[in-house]
Amino acid sequence: MGLTIGIFDSGVGGLTVVRELKRLMPRQPVVYFGDTARTPYGTKGPDTIVSYARENAEFLLEMGARVIVIACHSAASVATDTLRATLDVPVFEVVTPSVQQAVRLTKNRRIGLMGTRATVSSGIYPRLIGREDPEIRVFGQPCPLLVPLVEEGWLRCRETRMIIRRYLRPLKMQQVDTLVLGCTHYPLLKDIISKKAGRRVKIVDPSAQVAEDVCLHLAQNGYGKTTGSQDEDRYFVSDIAPATAGIVRTFLGREVELLVP
Ligand code: DGL
Repeated sequence: MGLTIGIFDSGVGGLTVVRELKRLMPRQPVVYFGDTARTPYGTKGPDTIVSYARENAEFLLEMGARVIVIACHSAASVATDTLRATLDVPVFEVVTPSVQQAVRLTKNRRIGLMGTRATVSSGIYPRLIGREDPEIRVFGQPCPLLVPLVEEGWLRCRETRMIIRRYLRPLKMQQVDTLVLGCTHYPLLKDIISKKAGRRVKIVDPSAQVAEDVCLHLAQNGYGKTTGSQDEDRYFVSDIAPATAGIVRTFLGREVELLVP
């Protein structure tokens, strides 16, 4: 038996974290919930996102999760404290590892943040980074067009490259040397973002780090790489639209059976 890891996102972006988890711990069972009926979260206000996050976490607990991973920057930015205060299981999320990595990597103390409007306007990044090093400046850039482009599968299109270049322009003017991919969809655009940002800019993608943190927690609790069975994996979404299965395949790199709660 493994320990079930519950992961949620506003939709399918959190599957980039699932992918890393499965790479590290292929047999550890995961239960995923993508809130495809209510996505996007990035355009919503903090109170709404917090109440969605609570519902999602409670559903995963009902499904047997013993660890919760908030694999959505918009939700992690505003709902982490509430979930940690109300749930009696460990809560991992994507913002803290991004902050730690960015602080470690920056040399000129100028960090760029690409994210949804909810993430950027939450102010969580400057707040947490400021606690580590008050001298660091954080420049946030909301990038609302990137999520639909990724979901359309426009990963290498000229239009996508142009939009990325436009979003990066203000960050490049601020001479950031480190760039946080503050949305779970952006790892799919990592190559283009990195190329357009320039060779000297270091890219922060927390998905691998979150997976490592969860892996360490499991190891400390006696669950190794060989415990569990991936047959126990379950992938729930709150709505199956015509495009959902295709988008899931893009993110996960394979077909899975989608379940509706
Ligand atoms: N998964 C969300 C995030 O990481 C992006 C999509 C949305 O706006 O809900 O912020």
